[in-house]
Amino acid sequence: MKQFQTSKAIQRLPDQFFATMIDKLNLYKKRGYDTLNLGQGNPDQPTPSHIVQSLQEAAEDPDFHKYPPFHGYEFLKEAVAEFYKREYDVDIDPETEVAIMPGSKTGLVELSQCFLNPGDVALVPDPGYPDYWSGIEMVGADMKSMPLREENGFLPDYAEIDEESWEKAKLMFLNYPNNPTGAMADADFFEETIQEAEKNDVCVVHDFAYGAIGFDGNKPLSFMQFEGAKNVGVEVYTMSKTYNMAGWRVAFAVGNPSVIHALEVIQDHYFCSIFGGLQKASATALLSSQQCVTELAETYEKRRDLLVRGLEEEGYHVAPCQGSFFAWLQVPEGYTSQGFADDLLEETGLFVAPGIGFGKYGEGYVRIGLNNSEESLQDAVKRFKAFKQK
Ligand SMILES: Cc1ncc(COP(=O)(O)O)c(C=O)c1O
Repeated sequence: MKQFQTSKAIQRLPDQFFATMIDKLNLYKKRGYDTLNLGQGNPDQPTPSHIVQSLQEAAEDPDFHKYPPFHGYEFLKEAVAEFYKREYDVDIDPETEVAIMPGSKTGLVELSQCFLNPGDVALVPDPGYPDYWSGIEMVGADMKSMPLREENGFLPDYAEIDEESWEKAKLMFLNYPNNPTGAMADADFFEETIQEAEKNDVCVVHDFAYGAIGFDGNKPLSFMQFEGAKNVGVEVYTMSKTYNMAGWRVAFAVGNPSVIHALEVIQDHYFCSIFGGLQKASATALLSSQQCVTELAETYEKRRDLLVRGLEEEGYHVAPCQGSFFAWLQVPEGYTSQGFADDLLEETGLFVAPGIGFGKYGEGYVRIGLNNSEESLQDAVKRFKAFKQK
């Protein structure tokens, strides 16, 4: 069959490291291994029933069978503004400061397309969520990694960024609670970020995917809570994790009106917003009782306690897991992250995500998902116990 040549933009896309890893896991499954997958980031619980019911009702409404407004329904933007006021005491103008997106993955790629040209620099956390890289590569911009080290609480040290990178930098991606390290950011860090962004004219994109999942009584801070944040960037929030709606593909960005406008312009070309029923159910999620969210965070915290305690009893070091649904485990001496993950899979059938897949500074760690039942996590601890280190 004829092989059509793809564009340079497509050729520049990074390999999907985790797709390769999943192929490997499937191979082990086929070979009859008793596998346990703790390597992926898919919420394991169903969407709360009041949200599902809202979609069911909305699906019957003929108004939603038509094309939705290009930029999304006003009622959802108003719900987002109400959510930010209620949860973070932040004023958001629903008309100019909210963009609705089909999942935050999409929005994160679009932001690079909106603001980067070849030769520009995007500052990315390392280790970090790999989808930041996709948009940057697609437009031919350069990536400058900001190392996240355990001794700095997995926060970037802005003093490490050289003058030339600051000059070329147009975008900075941040994500707290953090995937993959489980770290949270404090007020000082966000205030420093705003100062640096102002000084260097960089647009900050705070990915708040795990905004609802903070442990030990600490509610994750929204970047938007800090004075001047709206002037220097946006926050991207997904329904996927907070409401177990990963399959529904609904997210939004709030903040700087020029950034919101650019997102809406690019989306005018890609999409005609998202199905109105999904928007209605998302508004229901944001405006109804948040008891389901409290319970979700409690569930993840219980699972964290169980896993971390079990691993520490086996002599492993787990980085302080303050939020998100990931534990970041240091691999024993003598292993690379890939080597450790491979041996663990081979010997015990347990699949964890090697840190190197999240960037160079992810080396030395593996990521374990708390998005699995207590029984699975107990099973994982047993497998770690049985695992013979070399
Ligand atoms: C840090 C982070 N950002 C964004 C996303 C994407 O979420 P979604 O596309 O479901 O909104 C994920 C999903 O795993 C994530 O971990």
